[in-house]
Amino acid sequence: MLTRRQLLRLGIVGGAAVLVPWERGVVALASSHATTPFAVPLRIPPVLAPTATDEEGDHYRIEIRSSDVEIFPGLPTPMWTYNGEFPGPTIRARTNRPVFVTQVNRLQIPVTVHNHGAHTAPEHDGYPTDLIPPGAERVFHYPNTQEAATLWYHDHTMHQTARNIYRGLAGAYLLEDDAEDDLGLPSGEHDIPLLLMDRTFEPDGALQYSDSADSMLFETILVNGRVWPYHEVAARKYRLRLINASNSREYELALDNGQPMTMIASDGGLLAAPHAAESVVVTAAERAEVVVDFSDVPVGSSVVLKNLRGTTSNGTDDVMRFDVVRSESDASVVPSTLRSIPAISAAAFVRDVELSFSFEHRLWVIDGQPFDPERVDARPQLDRPEAWRVTNVSGSAHPFHIHLAMFRVLDRDGVPPGPAEAGWKDTVNVVPGETVTLISTLREYTGRFVYHCHNLQHEDHDMMANMEVVAAAPVFSDIAGHTHEQAILAVAAAGIATGYPDGTFRPQQAVTRGQMAAFLTRGLELPPGPGGAFPDAVGHAHEEAIAAVATAGIATGYADGTYRPQRAVTRDQMAAFLARGLDLPESGTHSFTDVAGNPHEPAIAAVTQAGIANGYPDGTYRPRHVVTRGQMAAFLARALDL
Ligand code: C2O
Ligand code: CU
Ligand code: CU
Repeated sequence: MLTRRQLLRLGIVGGAAVLVPWERGVVALASSHATTPFAVPLRIPPVLAPTATDEEGDHYRIEIRSSDVEIFPGLPTPMWTYNGEFPGPTIRARTNRPVFVTQVNRLQIPVTVHNHGAHTAPEHDGYPTDLIPPGAERVFHYPNTQEAATLWYHDHTMHQTARNIYRGLAGAYLLEDDAEDDLGLPSGEHDIPLLLMDRTFEPDGALQYSDSADSMLFETILVNGRVWPYHEVAARKYRLRLINASNSREYELALDNGQPMTMIASDGGLLAAPHAAESVVVTAAERAEVVVDFSDVPVGSSVVLKNLRGTTSNGTDDVMRFDVVRSESDASVVPSTLRSIPAISAAAFVRDVELSFSFEHRLWVIDGQPFDPERVDARPQLDRPEAWRVTNVSGSAHPFHIHLAMFRVLDRDGVPPGPAEAGWKDTVNVVPGETVTLISTLREYTGRFVYHCHNLQHEDHDMMANMEVVAAAPVFSDIAGHTHEQAILAVAAAGIATGYPDGTFRPQQAVTRGQMAAFLTRGLELPPGPGGAFPDAVGHAHEEAIAAVATAGIATGYADGTYRPQRAVTRDQMAAFLARGLDLPESGTHSFTDVAGNPHEPAIAAVTQAGIANGYPDGTYRPRHVVTRGQMAAFLARALDL
C-alpha cells in the first residue's frame, strides 16, 4: 500500500498523484506524460505463428522478457513482455485442436502463465506458486476442449500478478470453432481484439507503479498498448472483442453517437442470442464481444468509444475513436440465434463464499482468510452442479473469478441477470452488499485450482482461495441397502455418522444411532419424530436429526475425510446450537475469553479449542481451517461424553 509519503513523492516526481478518499480504497494516478487523445493508430497485436504443427496440435514458443515498447512514438517504455510485444501476441486456437505453448522465462524473477477461461489440467493452469524459474522454460498444454471464446493469457505469479500484468504480461487467446464460423459474423480484419488497460507514465515514458492493496486507477487509457488510439474502419459491421486487462478499472462502454452495440458474446463465448446494448460493462478480466455497424455513419466522420464510468476531467471517459474512411460491401450477418445454451442446472450442493476486508490482516480476504496455497478452502466435486453464493460484505466491488470452468449466473440478490450475463461466464462482478449466486459444474480435472477477485490489487493482497476439485464420492448404501443423499454421505465420510452392520453410528468410538440422533436433535432443536423416522429426498427413512444436520449445512464432509461447516453462522446461532448439542445451560456464565478479550459461552470455548470456529469482528463464527476427521471425532466424542 502506498504511504502518504510515497504518494507525496509521486506527486512531486510524477505530477498529479491524487488520493481519493481512503475509505473507498482507491488510489488514482495521473500521468505526467502529456498525451493527445486519438493521435496514434490502433495497434492490432500480431497473431503468433506456430513453430510446428503436427498431429499432436499446434506448438508455440514465447519468450517472457524485458523489452522497450514504443507506446509513445519515438519514446521507449521499458516493459516485461511476451516476445517483446505489448500486449502479447494473439494466439488463435481451434476447439478440439490442442495447443502447446513453451514459455521461456528470460526475466530475472520466477513467473507463471495462466490462460484465463481455459479448461486445463491443474499443472497447466499457472498456479500462483507453480513458477518457471529464471532461465527455465515450461510447456503449457491447452486441450481446447471447450467452445469458441475470447480468452486471455496473463501472468499469475503469487503476490506479483498486479505488477507483472501492469508491466506488460497479458495477451489474447482467441478460441474459434466451426459452429461459430458458420454464423457468418464479421471476421478477418473485421474481427478485432481490444485489450483495455490503464497505465500511468513518467515524463520519460516509463511506467509508474507502486504496489497497493487498494484499487489502482491509472489515468491514461490504452487499447492494445496504444494511448487513446484511433482506428480507420469501413462503413460496415465489425466484431470487437473487448477484454478488460486492467488492474482495477471497470469500463462501461458506449458509442458517442448514441448508436447501440450488438452484444454477441461474454467470457465463455457466444450468447444464445444477440441483444442491442446502449452500453456494455466489463469489470476486471471480463470480456464482452459486440458487433458495431458503422454503415450508417457518414464516410469522413468518427465515432468515439466512451467509458461511461470514466471521468471527463482526466479523459478516462474516452477509450478510442473509430474513423469511418471508406464504404465497403458487407456480407457478414448477426443471426438472431447464435448458439443453444442449456438451462441452468439445479444445484446439488450449496457453498457460501464471503468477500470482505479483514481489518485484522489489513488485507482483502475470502471467508475471513488471506490466501494460503497449503490450505484447501473448497472441495468441489467433479460433475456436480454447485451453487456458489458469493456475498460481498466489503465496501469495494469484487470481480469474482473461478478457474477451470465457465459458470452461469443464477441471480443477483435473487434477481435473474440481464442478457449480458445470461451466457457462460468465468468472472462476475459482486458489488458491496450483494450476493451473486452462480452455478458451476467442474469437469474432467481433479486437483488444485484457485478462485479469486480479479481486481489485481485485491488478488495479490490477498483475496484468493484454493479449491481441490475431487472425484464424486461413491454411492453409499446403508445396512438396509438404501442409498443416501449426498449430504448424509458426506457426514458419513467425515466419520461422524458412519453406519455399521450392528446398527450403530460412530465417529472414532461407537455410539448408538439413538445417541447420535439425540445429540443432533438437541443440537438442532428438532422434535424427536415417531421412531425418529423420516423420508429423505429419495424416500428412504432416516433419523430426522441426522438428515437435518446434513441439510442444514452444518456437517458437510469431503471425500478426503475432512470436515467443515459450509457457511458462517452468527455467534448466537453457533452458541445456541452448541449449547443445545452439549447440553449446556442456554444462558450461563461467560467463563471463556477469546483472543479479543470477549467473554463467551463455554460451548463456544469448546468449539474454538477444537479448531472448528473462531469469532470474527463482524460477530460471526466460522471455521478457520479444515479440520481433520480426528479433530472432529475428538470434538464429537467430548460432545457425546464418550
Ligand atoms: Cu485471469 Cu486467476 O485469472
Ligand atoms: Cu483464470
Ligand atoms: Cu476485489
